[in-house]
Amino acid sequence: MESLISLVNKLQRACTALGDHGEESALPTLWDSLPAIAVVGGQSSGKSSVLESIVGKDFLPRGSGIVTRRPLVLQLHKIDGDREYAEFMHLPRKRFTDFALVRKEIQDETDRETGRSKQISPVPIHLSIYSPNVVNLTLIDLPGLTKVAVEGQPDSIVADIENMVRSYIEKPNCIILAISPANQDLATSDAIKISREVDPKGERTFGVLTKIDLMDKGTDAVEILEGKSYRLQYPWIGVVNRSQADINKNVDMIAARRREREYFANTPEYRHLAHRMGSEYLGKVMSKHLEQVIKSRIPGIQSLINKTIAELEGELKRLGKPIAADAGGKLYSIVEICRIFDQIYKEHLDGVRPGGEKV
Ligand code: GDP
Ligand code: NA
Ligand code: MG
Repeated sequence: MESLISLVNKLQRACTALGDHGEESALPTLWDSLPAIAVVGGQSSGKSSVLESIVGKDFLPRGSGIVTRRPLVLQLHKIDGDREYAEFMHLPRKRFTDFALVRKEIQDETDRETGRSKQISPVPIHLSIYSPNVVNLTLIDLPGLTKVAVEGQPDSIVADIENMVRSYIEKPNCIILAISPANQDLATSDAIKISREVDPKGERTFGVLTKIDLMDKGTDAVEILEGKSYRLQYPWIGVVNRSQADINKNVDMIAARRREREYFANTPEYRHLAHRMGSEYLGKVMSKHLEQVIKSRIPGIQSLINKTIAELEGELKRLGKPIAADAGGKLYSIVEICRIFDQIYKEHLDGVRPGGEKV
């Protein structure tokens, strides 16, 4: 049986293809109603590292400056067997098994849209990763919040990035993964600042603390991790990602995850928290949470789909052509959306057989 998250992934892809019809289309509203997880934080806070640790693969462009210049919608699909591959929505017939090429394609596709001008664009790139080693999850990587424009970038880029990030996380169905580095004062965290604006009670924000290994000697993150410094409804999760030196030495993800586990288990201050720390735990918590949120929103999504279908039928009459085709010519029709949703509804509304992994 397909997991609930992967069914919603299909709806998201159908919405994106249909959304090409322009702003007045009914589909953006449906897209907005589908729960997803957005990763936010300041530049170099460790966002890409957290995403790569959750996936267990190296595949994101990295470097200094504003590397992520378009949203990346990353859909993780857990599959059986030992194959592992990636697919972009803009290249539907191409399977990537070399993840270095995935990184290159993200860079190239970013440049195609922004014309190498180092501008940012709100048009998302859709990437799916199929692997036996992932949990079912949809994550949106957003450009890092920054305080100053660098050479060649317009001053407006600081506000443009902030507005783009806000446009994702202000939606009530967006789950916020707020990344703060432990080696900086939490009071200065860009992630906390912006998530507090849109979610003042911390009801849909998960605080992730990176770089715990880089804190000054004699200080520790226990107060933060125990929720005493900044209270959120969900417990904070600490991670230790690979350092730049590790990356340069090609320390692989498996070794990095093992070292991270050992770090929490063997550091006296954190031992009592070790069972709820680390990237692997973070991935499982987010998958489980996303599934619960989707389940709770099914009735709302259903009424919206009914409304959307009516509006789309109107559009169809007006435009007089099939609803939409993605780059590979796959046709998404109203019927397709109904079928996908019907499947979600039947299999999951009663919550009898939830898909995805248990924590
Ligand atoms: P992003 O700009 O938010 O995507 O940040 P990156 O994931 O690219 O990380 C920025 C730098 O910090 C990289 O050199 C990473 O290796 C390093 N880094 C990220 N997280 C950690 C961590 O938990 N510990 C250590 N030692 N380095 C980290
Ligand atoms: Na970076
Ligand atoms: Mg990054």
